[in-house]
Amino acid sequence: MIRETIVTTLSPEGRPHVAPMGATPIDGGWLLQPFRPSTTLENFLATRCGCVNFTDDARVFAGCVTKRRQDWPTEPALAVPSVRLAGALAHDEVEVERIDDGEGQRPKLYCRTVHAANDRAFGGLNRAVAAVLEGAVLVSRLDMLPADKIDAEFGYLQIAIDKTAGPEEREAWGWLSDAVAAHRAKAAS
Ligand SMILES: Cc1cc2nc3c(=O)[nH]c(=O)nc-3n(C[C@H](O)[C@H](O)[C@H](O)COP(=O)(O)O)c2cc1C
Repeated sequence: MIRETIVTTLSPEGRPHVAPMGATPIDGGWLLQPFRPSTTLENFLATRCGCVNFTDDARVFAGCVTKRRQDWPTEPALAVPSVRLAGALAHDEVEVERIDDGEGQRPKLYCRTVHAANDRAFGGLNRAVAAVLEGAVLVSRLDMLPADKIDAEFGYLQIAIDKTAGPEEREAWGWLSDAVAAHRAKAAS
């Protein structure tokens, strides 16, 4: 089981960093697996703490992956010297307990939850949010996937966007579509 979350960390200089990251629930916490190079990984190695945030704001996923918007607001965490994502539905404040394969391509960070908070009510599932999430994963793999697969999957996901998106999901979908177009233009030139 993997939950798609937004992980927030602080650099040693105190600069907040926001990144979408899959989180696997483990006993008492979360397993995070950032690919090197990763600012999230560097921040965890330096500060040993951060927050795993749960949000239904699709723009955070799309904005970070496309780099169209990465400066999502954060607030101080309560139990660890780090930051949480402002406006998230819930968040877990975590400390790194153990690191496996610290020198490998994808280290495993075993994190223990030291404080968990429900911040806002969940408003229900939305297909367009799920479509943006899938689109964001595709965009994060543009260099690895064939163009016809991207087109086919974006075409299918577009149906949920057309039928169920609100303004935030449309904005997020626009960022993803622009990123695909920019990738194509770069490849063609
Ligand atoms: C839904 C979703 C899940 C992701 N999960 C991971 C992950 O588990 N590990 C990872 O390294 N990157 C993951 N990514 C990609 C990162 O968000 C992206 O590469 C980001 O820049 C992480 O690097 P950073 O720590 O330097 O910001 C995911 C992206 C999306 C949209």
